[in-house]
Amino acid sequence: MGTDKDTRINYSDDFSDIKPIIVRRCTQEDLEAVIVVNEKELPEDYPYFFYKSILDNYPEAFLVACNNNGKIVGYIMWRVERTPAIHSLKLVNKGHLVSIAVLKKYRRLGVASAILANSMKNLKKYKIDEFVLEVRVSNYTAINLYKKFNFITHSIKEKYYRDGENAYFMTLKP
Ligand SMILES: CC(C)(COP(=O)(O)OP(=O)(O)OC[C@H]1O[C@@H](n2cnc3c(N)ncnc32)[C@H](O)[C@@H]1OP(=O)(O)O)[C@@H](O)C(=O)NCCC(=O)NCCS
Repeated sequence: MGTDKDTRINYSDDFSDIKPIIVRRCTQEDLEAVIVVNEKELPEDYPYFFYKSILDNYPEAFLVACNNNGKIVGYIMWRVERTPAIHSLKLVNKGHLVSIAVLKKYRRLGVASAILANSMKNLKKYKIDEFVLEVRVSNYTAINLYKKFNFITHSIKEKYYRDGENAYFMTLKP
């Protein structure tokens, strides 16, 4: 169900079952559908309690995108960590991207951009000093998305993923 705080993406093209896309906060009732999107679109799976704990702790930054019929077509979730800053030993609050995915049919319509922009705005409520994320070095699509948001590649994390692939560690100062 939408609220007046929802963000609405409208398209001039005729995507009758797609438009408008609504971006809103995730609820506990959404979690099963979020898990479906995750399992379809990403190799990393998490147990239900993991999603629930992220939702309980960082609800402002756990967003879903829904199509015209209310179907969840994308999601984003973050956690907040207090760890040393990228360039000093000072402890800072980092918004750490846990996961973002959009169903294939709904890609390249600005859905990821909308949930990323809105979640980063909401994360500021947690007094974030830095945004950080890992992305597979082969995931050009996602790397392009993050670069579009001005993330820079800070370093490479060797064999970060279970299958042995390296990750780019990308950061952004708000
Ligand atoms: C990455 C992902 C979330 C992007 O979702 P999306 O809704 O299609 O992204 P958007 O439409 O908002 O596109 C934003 C930018 O991302 C980049 N991008 C998106 N799709 C791209 C593609 N197929 N090729 C190259 N760049 C692409 C572009 O820079 C694009 O900006 P532009 O349209 O102005 O060129 C989506 O492809 C996805 O779910 N991938 C599988 C899950 C995943 O890899 N998650 C990231 C894990 S770190």
